[in-house]
Amino acid sequence: MSDQALNLSVVPQEPCDIDFAWYDEIRDHLLRRTVGQAGQVLDVGCGPGNVLLMLSAQIGAGIGIDISDDDLRRAECERQRRKVANVTFRHADATALPFPDGRFDVVLLLGDVLAYVEPGKHEAVIAELNRVLEDGGTAVHESMNWDWEYSWPYPAADIAFERPGKDTFTAHRVQRDASGSETSQDYEVLPGTPLHQWILDQEWPASPQQASTRLEAREHAPIPEAWLKPCGESRYKHYCMGDLDQLYKRAGFRHVEVWSYGQTYDLVNKAGLLAQLVPLQSQLAEAEAELAFTLRMGCGPWLFLVAERGDSR
Ligand SMILES: C[S@@+](CC[C@H](N)C(=O)[O-])C[C@H]1O[C@@H](n2cnc3c(N)ncnc32)[C@H](O)[C@@H]1O
Repeated sequence: MSDQALNLSVVPQEPCDIDFAWYDEIRDHLLRRTVGQAGQVLDVGCGPGNVLLMLSAQIGAGIGIDISDDDLRRAECERQRRKVANVTFRHADATALPFPDGRFDVVLLLGDVLAYVEPGKHEAVIAELNRVLEDGGTAVHESMNWDWEYSWPYPAADIAFERPGKDTFTAHRVQRDASGSETSQDYEVLPGTPLHQWILDQEWPASPQQASTRLEAREHAPIPEAWLKPCGESRYKHYCMGDLDQLYKRAGFRHVEVWSYGQTYDLVNKAGLLAQLVPLQSQLAEAEAELAFTLRMGCGPWLFLVAERGDSR
């Protein structure tokens, strides 16, 4: 055991770490309206398939692709349970879609899929969406709004721990800038060190979805280097309204419209529709608190983009 002192404190969950169920209601509403009665829909990075299953009654047919076999298995189980016949799921990578040009009327890229793809490949993903869409087809995109993330008013943590295995921990020191670039220095936490024991002793905050996968901390004194083994660097690129718009225009999309969900909530609220979209009274109170917070921040947490494919073929 080292005699070096460990001086860390857990960063508590902030008041806006809320239940996202009511966001989903508003998203579903926007998607139903945007996708309409499209014939052929592709959901890129479909995860557990919720979106296509939700849209299945109003579209001709849907295909969901993802690189996670676990998610694809869950999607297929749910499809069978709900007896949905016009939707299929298959393994594929967003950077090289296994479909011919012009195959779909609508493509979806939802839930910040680009944040999982390395920054140098983002243009390739959007080019693929463009290629598999028919002329005049629609791309629908949703991602976290970096303006919101970057103007978050609470002090950031110095280090975050994740738990890829039962008693295995990784550590991440993140640097970010206003342009949306984020670099994470990644480490393994060495077993048998005071740091490993400290992490084991903590009660991990349960997220609203009970995922409990991340513990954030402040380093009041630097963690001794001998307790961490560097294991590389990860780079991320996140988007604000302006550069998301440019990403799609550069790929040949036209009529690109981007708005932040904060604006949507505001409109929905002013129209007196919030109570209809958020059925539970407890969630309504939370939704109203979140809306007030969004307005103070001057932007919303999510961006929603709708773009039309130009006829370049
Ligand atoms: C946060 S989930 C979003 C799931 C779903 N689109 C939604 O909104 O509920 C991100 C998904 O992107 C998938 N993903 C990441 N990189 C991918 C890639 N290169 N090709 C296809 N899917 C990818 C992940 O496996 C994950 O299921």
